[in-house]
Formats: sequence, structure tokens, C-alpha cells
Amino acid sequence: MSYLDLAVQVAQEFAQAYGRHPRWIVAAPGRVNVIGEHTDYNDGFVLPMAIERYAVMAADKSADGGSTIQIRDVSGVEPVLIDLSAPIKPGSPKWGNYPRGVIAGCLARGINPGGLDVLLHSTVPLGGGLSSSAALEVCTATLLEAVTGKKLDPVEKALLCQKAEHEFAGVPCGIMDQFISVMGRENHLLLLDCRSCTTQQVPVTDPAVQLLVSNSNVKHELANGEYAKRRAQCEAAAKILGVPSLRDATAEALENARGKMEDVVFRRARHVIGEIERTLHAAEGIRASNWPTVGQLMYASHFSLRDDYEVSCKELDALVEIAGNIGISGGVFGSRMTGGGFGGSTVTLVKRDAAAEIKKQMAADYKKKTGIEAAIFVSRPAGGATVVKVAGKDLIAQAGSHATGRLDP
Ligand code: GLA
Repeated sequence: MSYLDLAVQVAQEFAQAYGRHPRWIVAAPGRVNVIGEHTDYNDGFVLPMAIERYAVMAADKSADGGSTIQIRDVSGVEPVLIDLSAPIKPGSPKWGNYPRGVIAGCLARGINPGGLDVLLHSTVPLGGGLSSSAALEVCTATLLEAVTGKKLDPVEKALLCQKAEHEFAGVPCGIMDQFISVMGRENHLLLLDCRSCTTQQVPVTDPAVQLLVSNSNVKHELANGEYAKRRAQCEAAAKILGVPSLRDATAEALENARGKMEDVVFRRARHVIGEIERTLHAAEGIRASNWPTVGQLMYASHFSLRDDYEVSCKELDALVEIAGNIGISGGVFGSRMTGGGFGGSTVTLVKRDAAAEIKKQMAADYKKKTGIEAAIFVSRPAGGATVVKVAGKDLIAQAGSHATGRLDP
């Protein structure tokens, strides 16, 4: 569903929940990373795209005129109440820590929306490795911008959201997810230099290919602790190599220092150094529509994540193996796990005219192998966070033919 169609639906859901029309509607996408995994916190490169799955918020000034932000979710989970007149701290329910952290960051910059009634509807699957939390953070920041009319610089906005995740959700993530949710552009991948925070939009214009996102529908518990461990191992490797971060290391220097480090630290660093190179090559391959090369780089990335970085799992390996067995003759160029790992999703580069058949076969073979239903979908690279409706200005109406419905004033 497009974000405009989803916004129309959320406007209606808001009216049902609160008994009036929303004044603001904003949307922020989830992401899939095409290549460049576990490189962002090593100052390296990543190449994600925003997907057509969104966190959408509809809002109005709070009915009682008070200074509380109330966020309800369409699923009916416990709502979040944030009192703006007291210091904002992490609390319960836990899902509220993402918006809490963002709101605290906005208040610190003088962006104070006052009390709000908010309804959240997200189509980014939770635990699917598709950045549902970054979408929620960026959606919250975009809502506060829309309500106050104060715009954050995009880099500052992404960093504010990342800080919320560190300090309020306790996840020491890198910067990729929040950046792509803010800066995604339709039909483009984002080549992000995580050291300088500079970006290049890489167009994907070849109509002959598509990306399939396959959610394994498993999420193994170790994810968070293992993520922090990987970061520490990378830092240890950089220290032994005498460089500020693994971005500055070469494969040759690592090989020469092999005797000075534990084997596990060596393998972590080998993944990161190789992955940074693969990401730059893949960006060139995409610019040249050289899909067989991009596909090979994707497989190489997966094997490195599986064997050296050890963040894959048997379900993700099964999905990649199934795609590999279909192979180029069946329309698959390449496949890999995407995101932090230990479950979540894979991303598969396929020929467009074979996509429907590949999707069917992958789902059937995965079910046979694991007993689990995968959720597989195609996504174009989507645009980043956007204001759909702002008091007095209805962008859905302006977009006209894109949306199936109109919003009431
Ligand atoms: C998670 C983090 C990102 C990134 C990926 C791995 O998605 O949030 O910052 O580190 O894992 O590439």
C-alpha cells in the first residue's frame, strides 16, 4: 500500500479513535540494506533503500488542552503517555521509549509541540530486521517538525533519532537505519559514508530487476547482546591495527597482524574490511546495471556474515541457499541476509519477469525446510519521511491521482 493510501486509512482510524479529524499526518519508511552490513559503526559505507512499508502517525492538539502527548497504536497495545511538563525518562510501555527518546531530543532543541493526541499505524513488520524502530523514531521527529513548523537539518534529525535508540531503548545501533528513513529517495539506493555522514543517491532505473524482501519470521533472542559484542571486537581489532576504526585498515595490514589477535577478532575485522570494499563495488555495479556482479557481491557478503561475522542463523541461510539454487537461470542474481542478523529478513536481487515465480518457490521451499511461513514481498526503493497532511494543507488532495481517497478537512 502506498503511504498516501495508508494515510487515508489512518485518518479514518484516527477519527474512530478520537472522534475528530487529524490535523497532521506524517509517514516514515522502514528499510532494507542491499549491502554494507555491520559497517556503519566502523565508519564504513552502507547501501540501503527505504521500502514501501511505513510508520504513519495522525495527530491533533490534545482534546483537553494539556501538555501530555498520548500515542495510541492501531493494534490496541497499551498507549504511551508522555508528560511534557516533567523530565522525560525511559519507562513503560517499552515501545514508548522510541518516541520518548525522540521527543526528549526535540524538546532539548526547542521543538515543543505541546499536548497531542496521536494514532500510530505501522506496516513495517516488528522484528523483521526492516527497521521498524527507526521508522517509529523518524516518524515521531517528523510529526514534531510538522506540528511546530520547525525543521531539523536531515543529518541532525537522523542523529537525534539514533541517540534516542541508544539512550532510551538501550540499543547501541549505528546510523544507517535512521539515515535511510530520513533521506530515502524513490527509485534510489543511498550510498552513505558513515564517517563523514555524506550521502550519494544511486539511481536504480533498470526496469528488468526487482528486489525481493523475505522475512524469515524468526528473531533469535541473542540479537542485542551479540550486536554489542561485535562492536567491541571491531574496536579491539582497530586498536591492535593502530587505526581509529576499521575503515582505515586494509586487508593486507590485517593479514600482517593476524598473529597479534585472537582468531575471532581477526575474522570480525576481515568481514568488515571486505564488506566496505564490496559495498563500494556494488554501488558501481548498480550504476552500471551490472546485475550478475552485484549478485555475486551479495552472496559474498552473506557468506562473510555467516562464517566470519557469525550473525546469520539457519533460517536466513536456508532462504539464501534456496535463492541460490534457483540461480541465474531461474532469474536470481544474488541474495543475502540484511540488517543486524540472528533472524529477520533476506534481500534477493531478481529478474522482474521471474519475480512472482521465485517468490512462490522460495516460500514453498522455505516452508518445507523449516516448517515456517516466510513473508515475501517486492518493494521499489521508496522516498524518505514525509509530511502528508499539515493543518490547512492537504497533500493527499494535491497529489490527486496517487491516492484512492481524500482526507476530510
Ligand atoms: C542494525 C543497526 C544498524 C546496523 C545493522 C547492521 O540494523 O541498527 O545500525 O549496524 O544492524 O548492518
